[in-house]
Amino acid sequence: MVHRFVADGLRIDFGSRRFRRTAFSSGRLRTLVRGLLVGVALSGFAGSARPAHGLPPGALKEASAASGFPFGVAVDTDTTGARLALAASEFTSVTAENAMKWGTLSPSSGAYDFTAADAFVGWASAQGHRIRGHTLFWSRLNGMPGWLEAEVNASPDPQATLTQLMQAHASSVVGRYAGQIAQWDVVNEPLETLGPNLDPANFFFATLGESYLDIAFAAAHAADPNAQLFLNETVVEDFPQKLPGLVSLVQGLQSRGVPIHGVGLQGHFFFNPPDIEQLRADILALAALGVVVEFTEVDIRLPLFAGYADPLGAQAAAYQALTSLCVEIVACVGMTVWGVDDGDTWLDAFSLTAPDAPNQPLLFDAAQMQKPAYEAVVAGLQQVPATVPALSLAGSALALVALLVAGVRGMRNRQRAQRVRHRRVGTR
Ligand code: G3I
Repeated sequence: MVHRFVADGLRIDFGSRRFRRTAFSSGRLRTLVRGLLVGVALSGFAGSARPAHGLPPGALKEASAASGFPFGVAVDTDTTGARLALAASEFTSVTAENAMKWGTLSPSSGAYDFTAADAFVGWASAQGHRIRGHTLFWSRLNGMPGWLEAEVNASPDPQATLTQLMQAHASSVVGRYAGQIAQWDVVNEPLETLGPNLDPANFFFATLGESYLDIAFAAAHAADPNAQLFLNETVVEDFPQKLPGLVSLVQGLQSRGVPIHGVGLQGHFFFNPPDIEQLRADILALAALGVVVEFTEVDIRLPLFAGYADPLGAQAAAYQALTSLCVEIVACVGMTVWGVDDGDTWLDAFSLTAPDAPNQPLLFDAAQMQKPAYEAVVAGLQQVPATVPALSLAGSALALVALLVAGVRGMRNRQRAQRVRHRRVGTR
């Protein structure tokens, strides 16, 4: 799992699950460490021959790794060839766009076909990518198997039957990949599309009430206590009135002692470009609950910038602002775009956005060439501070010692984690 450096005081908090802040927090040292990391990242570019457009291949992955900020992409069962190669060479995290959904995994009751999911996890692990599991419980489309509702409603005790089926599903899927999946989107889109309330059309909610969330998160945690468990919600960006509903759900789970670690703001910007100050407020409101936040499914449609003299430049600026916002806020710990390139976006087939096709929402164009948005995201990850304060010799030495100490500590942590992982999965 890629960890994120957080420089507080004289200690770099290296990869703890929750980014605790020390009593003494030094913005100056944070700037310094970031500046040093940026220096390291940029130095690799100095001698590189840049292609005609944009940055050297792999610059995004390099910036993500150097900043310790996972930057991911959704990969589907039909992601192959040059597209899959980009998913490997340009990102540090991946999400299964469809392969791990219940409807995909279990075409008939009690039967599972893990072929595609195993291939995805095997490929992602071979890349050293962080893996986001998506998604255990979603009542729409192939998020839910076609047989579930009929089987539950035909049973003498639908509540007990659905509870048991959910627990068995979580145990089968989360348990199968325990230790390999960093984060699970345990429940996807529990709220009604445009409001703060639980969606009455949601089969899990209609059958079990709000307790379905408790059942889902508790079962996922039992199957892999080390995975970070997320609630993943859509269009909070365009409809901020949904945020209080998210806050209330998280608080409810926490009050009942149910493990939840993060909230995913999907980041499908359908109607407006990102409103950075609104999103800052949203992230901080969620962070105040003690959970981390990720932008989990970002696409920013080019038609949103049709009125601009340079739509691609405006799209790039939006991507940079969104990336910078998340990198800047400690509780915002990762970002994922929902597709590799503009030739493979779900938006061109989605009823609401198909009329605008090609929506061109991603970082690479349909020929898998870098767009301005690619370079903008790299800049956002590098977060070159406006001014890196001049360093005294002592200050430089101190920072270097802090970095060395953190490096050694990180190495020991990784070795320890590797030993644990090997013991757990029995690999050499
Ligand atoms: O794999 C089957 C194929 O065998 C069959 O022939 C074909 C025609 O029926 O369908 C294929 O499955 C499709 C699947 O994508 C793989 O292409 C499903 O019908 C189709 O509904 C599914 O769409 C996905 C959608 O979620 C619903 O699961 C999109 O690719 C995916 O981008 C989209 O992603 C969702 C997130 O999971 C949750 N947040 C919103 C986001 C956008 O809707």
